[in-house]
Amino acid sequence: MQEELKQRFASRFGDASKVRLYAAPGRVNLIGEHTDCHGGYVLPSPISFGIRAAARVREDSLVRLYSENFPASGPVTFSLEELVHQREDGWANYPKGVLWAFRNHGYIPSSGFEALFWGDLPAGGGLSSSAALEVLTGVILQDLFGFPLEAPEALTLAKLGQEAENRFMGVQSGIMDQCAIALGTPEHALFLNSQTLEHRSIPVPLKDHVLFILNSRKSRELTTSEYNLRREECAKALQELQAWGSWQALGEISPEEFAPLAPKLSDPLLRRRARHVILENHRTQRAAQVLEAGDLKSFGRLMNRSHLSLQFDYEVSCRELDCLVECSWQHPACDGARMTGAGFGGCAVALVRNEGASAFEEEISAAYLRHMERECSIYRVSIPGGAGRIG
Ligand code: GLA
Repeated sequence: MQEELKQRFASRFGDASKVRLYAAPGRVNLIGEHTDCHGGYVLPSPISFGIRAAARVREDSLVRLYSENFPASGPVTFSLEELVHQREDGWANYPKGVLWAFRNHGYIPSSGFEALFWGDLPAGGGLSSSAALEVLTGVILQDLFGFPLEAPEALTLAKLGQEAENRFMGVQSGIMDQCAIALGTPEHALFLNSQTLEHRSIPVPLKDHVLFILNSRKSRELTTSEYNLRREECAKALQELQAWGSWQALGEISPEEFAPLAPKLSDPLLRRRARHVILENHRTQRAAQVLEAGDLKSFGRLMNRSHLSLQFDYEVSCRELDCLVECSWQHPACDGARMTGAGFGGCAVALVRNEGASAFEEEISAAYLRHMERECSIYRVSIPGGAGRIG
């Protein structure tokens, strides 16, 4: 794999002398969906699909980027002095945005560089290909130019990636994805407080289980607009709730505090949105406890409730995801399943006992084809470590 990466680099950039190799995983969120924009907890883990890169410094101030996944875009070339979002640069705006974020903090490369990216993460599948690209670019810059990043470095890389996503790409996402990718450890999920950024790793004991990702292969056109709209609805709900308490985020409100206040909200829609965030945040803390105790049955039940809340209260699921999840629930070997990521397409995640895993894979594929008249893709994933240099 590493040799092939070098060869691909050489065929694109002449030779592969002095090239360094890097990798970043994608992520799956196990639970804690749509809580990171509201100061709540999340519990994602890295997955064994991701993006690799080969890179080396140049002698001039040009940046040359090529992606094996977007060959039609060709190599994208720009100077370190012109870090401006350009529609025609497509995917390369992500690494460019990271350079821009680094520059905002005084981390300015002493020369240009060239990099080749090559990933096996389905783009637009909700497994954080964009955050993987951002964090990977940060790792490359840090390794090639040795910036004195604020400690802990991995957290700073996550924050710089989010800055690129929010301010350069214009997507108001939270910090979950970048943290999962930068801070992840093998066979663990990251229990992260999105407000304080305090975190700890919790083992995911997959000895008797398979972690499946079920890709609906429905693209997520609505994601950005609806994502921002949900944030606004939650901001309105919070504003009304602040008449009864001095909370700064929905994630600070407990289910007990919310229960008597819910009927006082002016609009049932706001009530549902706030209820999702507050109960999901509570479920995520509970999920961390049961996972720590190795109780995957209870963990699976929390996943199921999370899906229902996303389906009916936060309304970010879709027919395809509901179909994958409901078929999974009916399967005797499945201990829990839910949509994962922003929603409106993309993927679901299922926790399935080993003995029924092969049957599960076949039966869910067939059921999805029957009900939706389209094919899904199913992947078995393991949990690797976070982004870093590999050669
Ligand atoms: C996207 C965002 C994350 C998070 C999820 C929903 O993946 O990038 O920050 O908000 O949606 O949980």
